[in-house]
Amino acid sequence: MLKLNPNITVIEEEGAFAVLDRALALKAKGAPVINLGIGQPDFSPPRHILEAAEKAVRDGPHGYTTPIGILPLREAVAAHIAGRFKVPVSADEVVIVPGGKVTFYFACLLFGGPGAEILYPDPGFPPYREAIRSGGAKGVPYPIREEKDFGFDADEVLSLITPQTRLIMINSPANPTGGVVDAKEIEKLAQGLAKHPNVAILSDEIYSHLVFAGAKFTSFLSFPELRDRTIILDGWSKTFAMTGWRLGFGIWPKALVDHVRKLITVDHSCVNVAAQMAGLAAMTGPMDEIEGFRKSFEKRRGIVVDGLNALKGVSCRMPGGAFYAFPNVKGTGRNSRDLARELLNEAHVALIPGESFGDNGAGYLRLSYAASEAELKEALARMKSFLG
Ligand SMILES: Cc1ncc(COP(=O)(O)O)c(C=O)c1O
Repeated sequence: MLKLNPNITVIEEEGAFAVLDRALALKAKGAPVINLGIGQPDFSPPRHILEAAEKAVRDGPHGYTTPIGILPLREAVAAHIAGRFKVPVSADEVVIVPGGKVTFYFACLLFGGPGAEILYPDPGFPPYREAIRSGGAKGVPYPIREEKDFGFDADEVLSLITPQTRLIMINSPANPTGGVVDAKEIEKLAQGLAKHPNVAILSDEIYSHLVFAGAKFTSFLSFPELRDRTIILDGWSKTFAMTGWRLGFGIWPKALVDHVRKLITVDHSCVNVAAQMAGLAAMTGPMDEIEGFRKSFEKRRGIVVDGLNALKGVSCRMPGGAFYAFPNVKGTGRNSRDLARELLNEAHVALIPGESFGDNGAGYLRLSYAASEAELKEALARMKSFLG
């Protein structure tokens, strides 16, 4: 009898990938499925990024790089972030990893172990909980509230901190809700965390370029007093439409970088070097196309939120960022899991049931509006005729 590590066998698969599989299976049978389940931009990365990758594949370099990423790339990331948020960032705080996920996974390994508690948002990005479990810590969910425009109440979050708490994970703009946490609430949380010197902070800012009119993004880098225990997660996936390239970065407290470097040498040695060269072109190149992506998402947000609010039994807040809407479907009289299944099987619209993102997600659906305006309008029309 094989004896497996219970920290690993307990892991659940991310719901978005299960929905993607079902949607693809239906599509293969000829059903006209519109997939608003998976969260990835439907654009192609800007041309100068692709050209840099082509050149790297042709001319090299071809060998391993330093585990934490080539110096020019780390310097470019440091300059980019320092310029955006007007804070000092140095290349030796930047760690390049294969995708945004790896930064929080490594943080969960570093701060995990028996007895450790890690706070995470509910509803929130599902792999947070699984990363916490696989690192051997206990996950403690904190509520994300619709009435707070899908933000949190800082006092409520702080009240969950115990002597066992080692890490708190924060995500704004957020998956699955699109919520951008109010600056006052972030400041209140930061002030409270200043009184808990043993708690590290992981701020997942992967959607920080996708913030729309009416919302204001606050980076956790804005709190110098917390900087020696703050980890910032970001990457190329959502900003540059490069989800398949597997390229992300973390900004780590200097004292932790050596641990991360060792983890990288155990896990993947370094990131694919051609992807690093493409990432460098992205960080140093023009950003006008990226602003164009943001504007298209903002336009689609309007179409989707208006369309959802016109459906019977559905209400939807205006999300401040990312490319997700999180409509409340409690008024339809159906539970969200059944509704998502019926919408896929009968209306051929793939959405993710809110409970995939935590207990507090029940009664909601996640709709990714990273799809063409025509597809979004068609999906809304089908939902309307399905719901009557
Ligand atoms: C909140 C959040 N963090 C991190 C990631 C992971 O990004 P990547 O695909 O670069 O690993 C995602 C992807 O969906 C996300 O929604």
